[in-house]
Amino acid sequence: MKVIITHNNQELSEKACELIEQQVKEKPDSVLGLATGGSPLGTYNEMIKGCNHRSVDYEHVKALNLDEYIGLDKNDPQSYHFFMRKHLFDHININPDHTYIPNGKAKDLQEECEQYEQFIEDIGPPDLQLLGIGQNGHIGFNEPGTPFDRETHIIQLEESTRQANARFFESIDDVPKQAITMGIQSILKSKKIVVIASGERKADAIQRLLEEEPSENLPASALRNHKNVTLIVDEEAYQKV
Ligand code: GLP
Repeated sequence: MKVIITHNNQELSEKACELIEQQVKEKPDSVLGLATGGSPLGTYNEMIKGCNHRSVDYEHVKALNLDEYIGLDKNDPQSYHFFMRKHLFDHININPDHTYIPNGKAKDLQEECEQYEQFIEDIGPPDLQLLGIGQNGHIGFNEPGTPFDRETHIIQLEESTRQANARFFESIDDVPKQAITMGIQSILKSKKIVVIASGERKADAIQRLLEEEPSENLPASALRNHKNVTLIVDEEAYQKV
């Protein structure tokens, strides 16, 4: 795993954006795997600037998101569909028909998982997958204990994850209890993976990621088995290593 340590979140975001832009320039029809949460916000801001001021072209890019809450409509402001439009898709020249996120309101959620996994096969795995990391080491919404060989599936969110994400909702009671997430195996199919972690909140997870043997107790540790992972951290997230 290549590790890049930056001074702060801004520098981290610029670095992550640089890797994404490089990917898109090398292969204009790249499949980008994208993430939600607070971590990628700075990166998305930089991508928007790059698209508007440095003419980075997303016209032929396909974007594939990791996960979605179960029970939230695509237009619910807390859904990841809404998040991605608000923070990225509405501001770059990507074709909205080329953006894919699991449907958390599907009638048959099991079928939705199978179709999403098939879809990842069909459009090809991400050329580059951007990942955040949860405080408990989750990636996507793969909580501790998730077998590394899981593909897209339904997950019961840990109470600590619901609490960590409650800041995006009016109250903890509004945070869904389940989500659809690409599995660890689905994520590992990506050709390149860029993990970003910023702030003291992530220091334990980063220390464990770099120092513990891979185990299902720390879902992110599965990344140690992948050939092309770049971890970009700021000094606060790296402070316990
Ligand atoms: C969320 C998302 C993950 C994200 C992680 C960290 O629950 N499902 O994709 O990477 O948890 O979130 P944040 O970036 O807000 O700290």
